[in-house]
Amino acid sequence: MKVINNISEITSYLNGFISTGKKIGFVPTMGALHFGHLTLVNISKEQNDITVVSIFVNPTQFNDKQDFEKYPRNTEEDLKKLSETGCDLVFMPNEKEMYPEKEFKKFNLGKIEEVMEGRFRPGHFQGVAIIVNKLFEIVKPNNAYFGQKDFQQLAIIKRLVIITNSTVNIISCPIIRESNGLAMSSRNSRLSKTEFDNASIIYSTIKQLSDFIENNKFSEFKSWALNNINANNLFKTEYIEIVDSKNLEIVTNLKNHESITCCIAVFCGQVRLIDNIQINL
Ligand code: PAJ
Repeated sequence: MKVINNISEITSYLNGFISTGKKIGFVPTMGALHFGHLTLVNISKEQNDITVVSIFVNPTQFNDKQDFEKYPRNTEEDLKKLSETGCDLVFMPNEKEMYPEKEFKKFNLGKIEEVMEGRFRPGHFQGVAIIVNKLFEIVKPNNAYFGQKDFQQLAIIKRLVIITNSTVNIISCPIIRESNGLAMSSRNSRLSKTEFDNASIIYSTIKQLSDFIENNKFSEFKSWALNNINANNLFKTEYIEIVDSKNLEIVTNLKNHESITCCIAVFCGQVRLIDNIQINL
């Protein structure tokens, strides 16, 4: 496995593959890798000739400075996991080279930027779009892999490739969970054992949406779910929202929707956890 830290080196290395028509698969990450990330790498390996993973804790997407500072970083372990998974190339750029500019391009991400994560983390998706656009221009992948765990981020990336006329094919990959149902996340390492065990309530709650729909109680779901989670003192729900899976418009009535997604963000102390479940109607 090759590890490259600067843009000129990765550009000339990958040019060799591009000129011979080899397919490049790309998995952008912020490191602190878990099995969810490695699943993306495995899917990419099946579908491409070479798989590139980037590790870069992107400062522009953190609206909370403390969250950026506390974001787990363990490069050595990450590289070991990637090498064992059979990743071909790791790109670990530094901040100065990724951000030579002081002012950033603003992307027109439309209404999907204004709800849920976008509403509670102002500027977050601009930061994601800026870095992913830069990484796509550097790596020039055929296919790029993103997890449904970050459902809204996936919608943002799909919009990004449209508005930048990018030819990158965006592949959406399923959510990987812990055995108690909690969605795997780099932030889970900041939870105590008790918090981790109790956090199973997030998924077990949103999973019940389909029962509410079957019993014609859709309109009662959000307030029930909110109370169910907040009844546990360890948790405070920031938002729970049910949106159309395609355009992310808020769903108040199930008519005229093919698929809906229930998205949730919950604070456990200072650790912010997100999850979602998609239901095809
Ligand atoms: P990060 O949180 O490191 O996630 C990297 C990729 O792994 C994302 O596509 C994310 O959705 C996916 N992922 C994380 N947990 C997952 C899980 N439990 N199951 C399946 N996929 C999972 O998302 C980012 O980094 C950044 O915003 C990034 C796109 C790299 C831009 O900085």
